[in-house]
Formats: sequence, structure tokens, C-alpha cells
Amino acid sequence: MRLRSLPVKAINICEQSSGRRIISIAPTMPLNVLVVGAGVCGPAFASLLQSSNPKHNITVIERSPSLRIAGQQIDLKAQGTPIVRSMGLLDEVWQHRVEETGMEIVDSNGNALARFGVNDSSKGERRNLTNEYEIMRGDLIKVFQEASLRRREQLKQQGETEGSMTYEFGKTITTLDQCDDAAEVTFSDGQKKTFDLVVAADGQASKTRRQVWGGEVSDASLHSLGAYAGFYSIPRGPADSAFAKIYNTTGKRYIMTRNGNRPKTQVYLWDLKHTEELRKLDKEPVEKRHRFWADNYKDAGWEAERFLEGLKTTDDWYSCEIAQVKLKELHKGRVVLLGDAGYGPSVFTGMGTTSSLFGAYVLAGELARNPNNIKGALNMYEEKLRPHIEEAQKVGGNFGLFPDSKLGIWLMRKALWIISSLKLDSLATSVMPEQKGEVEIPVYPELNLPVVS
Ligand SMILES: Cc1cc2nc3c(=O)[nH]c(=O)nc-3n(C[C@H](O)[C@H](O)[C@H](O)COP(=O)(O)OP(=O)(O)OC[C@H]3O[C@@H](n4cnc5c(N)ncnc54)[C@H](O)[C@@H]3O)c2cc1C
Ligand SMILES: *[C@@H]1O[C@H](CO)[C@@H](O)[C@H](O)[C@H]1NC(C)=O
Ligand SMILES: *[C@@H]1O[C@H](CO)[C@@H](O)[C@H](O)[C@H]1NC(C)=O
Ligand SMILES: *[C@@H]1O[C@H](CO)[C@@H](O)[C@H](O)[C@H]1NC(C)=O
Ligand SMILES: *[C@@H]1O[C@H](CO)[C@@H](O)[C@H](O)[C@H]1NC(C)=O
Repeated sequence: MRLRSLPVKAINICEQSSGRRIISIAPTMPLNVLVVGAGVCGPAFASLLQSSNPKHNITVIERSPSLRIAGQQIDLKAQGTPIVRSMGLLDEVWQHRVEETGMEIVDSNGNALARFGVNDSSKGERRNLTNEYEIMRGDLIKVFQEASLRRREQLKQQGETEGSMTYEFGKTITTLDQCDDAAEVTFSDGQKKTFDLVVAADGQASKTRRQVWGGEVSDASLHSLGAYAGFYSIPRGPADSAFAKIYNTTGKRYIMTRNGNRPKTQVYLWDLKHTEELRKLDKEPVEKRHRFWADNYKDAGWEAERFLEGLKTTDDWYSCEIAQVKLKELHKGRVVLLGDAGYGPSVFTGMGTTSSLFGAYVLAGELARNPNNIKGALNMYEEKLRPHIEEAQKVGGNFGLFPDSKLGIWLMRKALWIISSLKLDSLATSVMPEQKGEVEIPVYPELNLPVVS
């Protein structure tokens, strides 16, 4: 019989400034990993990591008491689509897709000033032309979370006894101490646990980023694009069509609605004027924020009254500053930032979801490729992600419809699939000078994904 070498585990003792000692063992695969945030990329990363090695213990904690399925239409594009395809989940995403017929710019009477639409003759072709998958945020999160749990169940049935996939809701990190090889976490329920790696996927306002990088660095990492947005849904009205509608009024205010084939109407309120004020309100109760938007939009015209009435009873209000997250380093010791928490490109780029998935894929891939070398894996993750972040965070261009308006640029990008479907290729190219999705997706056979790309 041949002698098999056993993994060597080094013992580390690490003294904290508080005088507390953390005793840890340098990890060999499999790992004990904590994912903070069950948004878009948290469950996607958990799923990818599990696929690479079912013996990992993966815990995902989420601040909300259940999956936070709020949020409006988001989309997969560029690298996002092939990554989800490689996970074997693209068909499921397709089944949840939102069908949108086109886009109208409307006046205060709701009449179309301009219309970008798809006519019947081009039906059925448009999605292929831009490779874009529109889906409600809540549906996408559920696809990833359910896939990770379904796979766990399969593994158990196949006799896998090691490893785990656990989601814990209503839970946050209270303190996080770390040394080279481990992170010791105290949770809001008082529980204490040591992890080989903490993956912060807790969104643009990441508390983990603040805890580990400090308030000053964390605040400075948020680069405002000078706008705020409030997203929510209301009952569908008789005039709401499958067209997205955009209404521009005085005071740097924009209202957008979208329905697609959905029973509810999505309302987007955009404010390009009160960034400072709204930032302060972020720390206030949601009622106060609602009051601000209601006061500020009551004279906006069009159907503002109906939209504000709906604000009173909506159950999925979400607002955020339109900002990009930029940090010199995406990891510190055994804590790594993923998705919006580390490099959110902002809604204006339309790349938030795709970027968060690109990161999830590369992080899981590098961890699989560099077993027993988490530090090396984290360095490679940063190195491979940088060109993509640069690409995703580009906000540029200057288009005729909304001159010098970043919002206009974003809207034009959203409308690109419509332009493409009309086969106005030259227009599409002139409207979108920098194509996204040029950065190649690394190939990781180590991820053992169901679909080989
Ligand atoms: C409620 C909500 C609605 C959104 N709606 C839209 C939208 O309509 N359109 C759009 O383009 N983008 C929207 N976004 C942003 C979009 O989801 C992201 O840009 C993108 O999908 C990348 O996601 P992410 O996984 O990095 O972060 P997110 O999707 O933001 O997920 C972060 C998750 O972490 C959780 N979390 C936060 N803090 C903690 C903590 N301290 N401890 C534990 N968990 C925590 C949050 O509850 C959330 O579930 C929304 C985000 C949220 C949270
Ligand atoms: C995973 O959890 C189980 C049960 O708590 C434990 O026995 C095992 O050692 C853990 N594995 C890792 C890699 O931490
Ligand atoms: C639809 O598009 C076709 C081809 O571009 C065009 O010939 C036709 O007139 C359009 N129909 C309508 C109703 O706009
Ligand atoms: C377009 O996309 C659909 C759905 O993904 C697919 O079934 C079809 O084959 C695609 N068509 C082309 C021409 O690629
Ligand atoms: C929006 O409307 C205002 C007021 O009518 C106008 O001054 C402004 O130029 C418009 N902005 C865009 C981007 O069209």
C-alpha cells in the first residue's frame, strides 16, 4: 500500500489589540466560509463554491428576517449571461424573464414624445441580439438560493456526509477580529465562530467593509454620481402598458415606470439635485424618507399623484445613492469584498448584477484553483477582477436625447436592446461607445460546473 501524505496543519496563535487570543489552524481544503448577505452574489458565490468542493462548510447570513426579495428589474448582460449559463441556471432565469415591449418618453399628459419599440415583425429575435436577460431582482436571488440548497440535498442523497450549506436570517456580524489565518466573528445573536474566510456580499452600504476597513476608508470609497433613486412597486393602472415610460420634469426630477408582463407597476423616482439631503435622510426612519420623496414629487405632474399614493402602501421600497465603490484592495486578511460591497459600478452602468456575478465566479474559481493558499487565491481574485471592474465602472458618452445627463446615458443603455432589435446597428454603436463585456471570463474546470463553456 502506498503512503498517502496527510495535509499539514500549522497552528497559529494571534493576539488581538484587545488582548484576546485567537487560536487557529492554517486551513487546508475544505474550508469553513462565512458569506455576509443573501443578495444577488452571496447565494451565487455559495453555489459556485459548493460546486467546486461539496465538503466546504458554507454559512450565508442575511440581515433581513427572510430573503430580501425587494427590488425591481435587473439584468444579466455581458459576462453575466455565460456565467449563469455555466451554472446551469440560464433556462430558469429565462423562465422568470420580464418581457418589455419598448420605451416611451412621455409628456405630462402621458403622451409619447418619442417611442423606441419593437414591432411584431421583430418579435422573438430581440433577446438574442443583445443577449440581455431582464429579471426581477427577487426572482434572481431565489434562483441562486434555491439552486444552492437543491444541490446540497442532492449531495446528501448521493451519500456526501461532509460539508454544509446553511442560510441564517435576521443575523448580522457584531464584531470581527482576525489574524493571518482566521476570522473570529461574533454574531448579533451572541454566537461566536471562527471562519477560514469571510466573504462580504452585503451590498453598496456594506457594514462589513466599515468594520474591517474602518469608517473613514469605507466612506471615502463611495463615489457619488450626484443622484439618488427610489424604487418601488404599486398596483397596475389602466394606462400602464408593456412600454417602459420615462418622464422628465423641472427640478432635475425624472420618473420612470416599467411593467413588462408583470401584474404590478414598477416606479422609479430619480433625483439629481438633493444628494446631500437624501444622504442625511439615509440614517433616518423610512417614513421620513418617504415624506421627502412625497413632498418633492407632489407637483411633478404626469401621474405623480397616483405614484405617491402607491408609496403609502408599497412593501418593497428601496432607495440608494447612485454611487460607485472604489477601493485600493478588495481583501484584508481573511475578509474579502464581493459585488456592490467592494466595487459596485452603480445603476447608471447597468453592470451591477453582472459584475457581482463575475466576482463570485472568479473568487470561487481562484479558491478552487489554489487549495491551501487562500492568500494566493485572494490576490489572484483581485488581479483577475481589476480589468473587469475598470470596464464595468466606465460611465461616459454624451447622447443627443439627454445631453450631458448621466441618467440619460443609463436610460439609453437600457434602451439599447430595443435599438438593436430594430436593427439600427449604426445607431447602437454610436450610442454606446464603450462596449461592456470585452474582458474575458477565465475558465475554471476546478469549479466542476454543470455546463462547460
Ligand atoms: C432591496 C434591494 C433592492 C434593489 N433594487 C435594485 C433595483 O431595482 N435595480 C437595480 O439595478 N439594483 C437594485 N439593487 C442593487 C442590486 O441588487 C445590486 O447592484 C447587484 O445585484 C449586486 O448585488 P450584491 O449581491 O452585490 O448586493 P445586494 O443585492 O445589494 O445584496 C446585499 C444583501 O446583503 C444584505 N445585507 C446588508 N447589510 C447586511 C449586514 N450587515 N449583514 C447581513 N446582511 C446584510 C442585504 O439585505 C442584501 O440582501 C437592489 C438592492 C437591494 C438590497
Ligand atoms: C464542517 O462542519 C462540521 C460539523 O460542524 C465539522 O465537523 C467539520 O470539521 C467542518 N469542516 C470544516 C472544513 O470546517
Ligand atoms: C415593423 O417593422 C418592419 C420592418 O422593419 C416595417 O416594415 C413595418 O412597417 C413595421 N411595422 C409597424 C407597425 O411599425
Ligand atoms: C434565441 O434565444 C432563444 C432562447 O434562449 C433560443 O431558444 C434560440 O435558439 C435563440 N435563437 C438564436 C437565433 O440564437
Ligand atoms: C428636462 O426638462 C427640463 C424642464 O422642462 C429641461 O430644462 C431639461 O433640459 C430636460 N432635461 C433633459 C435631459 O431632457
